[in-house]
Amino acid sequence: MAEDQISFYYKNVMADAIGPEHGITKQQLNRLAKKMTPLIRKIKAEITGRKTRYGLLPSSRKIAANVKKLVERFKPRCENLVVLGIGGSALGNIALQTALNPYLYNLHKTQRTGPRLFVFDNVDPVQFGSFLDYIKPRLNKTVFNVISKSGQTAETAAQLMIILKILESRFGRSTLKNHIVATTDLHEGTLRNIAKRMHLPTLEVPDGVGGRFSVLSAVGLFSAAMCGLDIDALLKGARDMKKKILCRDFFANPAAINAAIHYHYYSRGKKISVMMPYSYHLKDLADWYRQLWAESLGKRYDLKGREVYLGPTPVKALGVTDQHSQVQLYREGPNDKIFTFLEVQDFGRKLKIPASLRSAPELAYLTGEDLGALLNAEKRATEYALLASNRPCLTVLFPIVNAYTVGQFIYLFEATTSFAGALFGINPYDQPAVELGKQATFALMGKSGEFAPGVSYADFARQIRDKTRIDPRYLV
Ligand code: PA5
Repeated sequence: MAEDQISFYYKNVMADAIGPEHGITKQQLNRLAKKMTPLIRKIKAEITGRKTRYGLLPSSRKIAANVKKLVERFKPRCENLVVLGIGGSALGNIALQTALNPYLYNLHKTQRTGPRLFVFDNVDPVQFGSFLDYIKPRLNKTVFNVISKSGQTAETAAQLMIILKILESRFGRSTLKNHIVATTDLHEGTLRNIAKRMHLPTLEVPDGVGGRFSVLSAVGLFSAAMCGLDIDALLKGARDMKKKILCRDFFANPAAINAAIHYHYYSRGKKISVMMPYSYHLKDLADWYRQLWAESLGKRYDLKGREVYLGPTPVKALGVTDQHSQVQLYREGPNDKIFTFLEVQDFGRKLKIPASLRSAPELAYLTGEDLGALLNAEKRATEYALLASNRPCLTVLFPIVNAYTVGQFIYLFEATTSFAGALFGINPYDQPAVELGKQATFALMGKSGEFAPGVSYADFARQIRDKTRIDPRYLV
């Protein structure tokens, strides 16, 4: 395990690689190191203390023990695990599953080390309805893991209400506890109350941990462990990365350098951060990163209460797929992006290209080559092409994709987010702007009571309808 260390490579953002106009000079990097040093102390105190609770998750024995207890209880008779959740209550689960289980895990019994996994983070009636058609005849071997810190999230609540009705009418109310695990706030909230009333087994969304920082809690660990993933190795990876990112030497601290580089470029007009894995298995980690970066760093106010309207825009792309969709823009469009490639050194599988097209000698160069070598050659080729256009490129190198390296990656980017928040002078742990849309949904769906002092949800709904009603004069 010790040799499976991910590493962070930043030569190709330096002026030596892409020129002084777009690259970072040694002097600039030294200035960034100076600016960052007191912030490393601050983040270290946050992460090791109780203030930034996500920092403590990888060391919690209790969380893993509680998860394993429920896995023992539910796994033996579970053929389908259905996660109901959204945002931070879904993206980590999806990312772990894509990264660490086989591509066709759900389809092939021989490739599965646990139940099929379905994660629903949408309320599209066609999608969910089609899934219900599939799952209804299989309910006796199905477990639903509803994840919501508050229980008030409309999407998750609506899915749960549908599932409850189906389960109740099939099995009766008293056996719901055999089919649903609720992951929610330990003490309070709508889902906690539902779970109490229905005697559902529960797992905890820890206090002070926002959804997007919760993948290493029961939120992400239960579905992972149910589906056969090594959660101990995942947590060990995070713990080992934590040691690195607590290092006070800027030049030995990958989270500090990563955050500082992004901060530098943001201040110089490169406000878009593209994450581009060259591994299908890592593609949903880029999606997870997108939420982490966007919700944490997109802020109207800084810590002093000044209006700043700040935040780098995270974009996910997939190598090689998006070479044939995005790279034209990335090379010849505005030089306003920084690229982070994810590169895998050992895919754990070789797939040789056979000599099956002798009639096409122009393709002979592929014969005998490994598909993984082609994928990595394409990563290098794209990086080279971007460098030729003076575009800054970072790489996270995975020696191999396993639970241990994925745990390192997760912690690296959570900590990078904390460092970036400190550099930008904003609070990366709240998401006030998400609230208005949630409240507007409540109003439009007919919630009663007051939206704000003196304003009923009904009045609020009228305001929303006035603003969003289709005006035929503008319809073509
Ligand atoms: O990161 C976050 O905090 C959000 O994405 C939440 O996870 C999401 O809104 C779901 O909230 P809840 O867990 O309360 O249902």
